[in-house]
Amino acid sequence: MQNATLSFSEISQSLGPLIDAALDARTQLGEGCPARLREAMRYSLLAPGKRIRPLLALLAAQACGGSVEEAMPAACAVEMIHAYSLIHDDLPAMDDDDLRRGQPTCHKAFDEATAILAGDALLPLAFEILAGEITPPEVAVACCSKLAKAAGACNMAGGQADDVGNEGRGATASAAGEISDIDLLESIHHRKTGAMIECALQLGAIVAAADKREMEALEQFGRRLGMAFQITDDLLDEQSTEAEMGKRTGKDARRGKLTFPYILGLDRSRQYARQLVAEACEALAGFGPDAEGLRSLARFVLERNH
Ligand code: IPE
Ligand code: IPE
Ligand code: MG
Ligand code: MG
Ligand code: MG
Repeated sequence: MQNATLSFSEISQSLGPLIDAALDARTQLGEGCPARLREAMRYSLLAPGKRIRPLLALLAAQACGGSVEEAMPAACAVEMIHAYSLIHDDLPAMDDDDLRRGQPTCHKAFDEATAILAGDALLPLAFEILAGEITPPEVAVACCSKLAKAAGACNMAGGQADDVGNEGRGATASAAGEISDIDLLESIHHRKTGAMIECALQLGAIVAAADKREMEALEQFGRRLGMAFQITDDLLDEQSTEAEMGKRTGKDARRGKLTFPYILGLDRSRQYARQLVAEACEALAGFGPDAEGLRSLARFVLERNH
């Protein structure tokens, strides 16, 4: 009930520092870790992101009767995978970006090899945390398995591959919107972004020993929220500013990315995101006030300007 009346910014203000402290504590890497590698990992991971995925893990756990404390390892793991994905997403071979979270991208602040390796190192650290901190072992295994699947070839990595592989298509697709382009785009967005958002919720639910009905409701919620989140990211790329976003804008159109604003236009994209968030919140009907934090976060996804 503790999040019953809190806005997203209040939730973020109360849980954000706990998440940051937990990430900080888990990246004090010792013997064997070169200082420069550690610095690059922490530079990107601890930079001021919105912490949406760890918040989702914590809020899902709370909605299922669990605690922030028991969900924190899962929250850290999902943010580490996310930070790794952003470092690699920004590389010259991918989106070739120079600004992230209001600071130079990892490969600009360090160098390409260090950025690749910082991502490489954050990825297994996430699993080390899940395997080492979550008990009992069956729950840790379930979390590792979910996260591996969400970050893997058929989800995040695959979605990223198809995002990059279809660059230029956003310059040739029919302006009226071909069905095949929309299906492809939904599939890319679900895999590159939605799967990790869904996974964050599932990990929170798993550590809180959620029942089948709760798991299924969170799956429905996450699937819709994930799509809405990436549609909003596409909209903000067209409409927001670098100062607000802390990353370059207008870059999707420049690279010919397949995006919702390109296929559906701004208004219909916005409308679709709104519909998805409404449906996402409907999926939480069975939860009552304990899921108010998740509902606030879902509303934030529509209203956000960064
Ligand atoms: C950016 O994610 C990449 C996408 C999947 C759209 P966020 O918008 O959550 O980025 P941070 O974590 O706040 O920097
Ligand atoms: C990134 O999507 C998705 C992942 C990192 C998995 P984008 O390429 O649209 O994210 P931004 O706009 O660079 O943050
Ligand atoms: Mg990208
Ligand atoms: Mg990008
Ligand atoms: Mg984007």
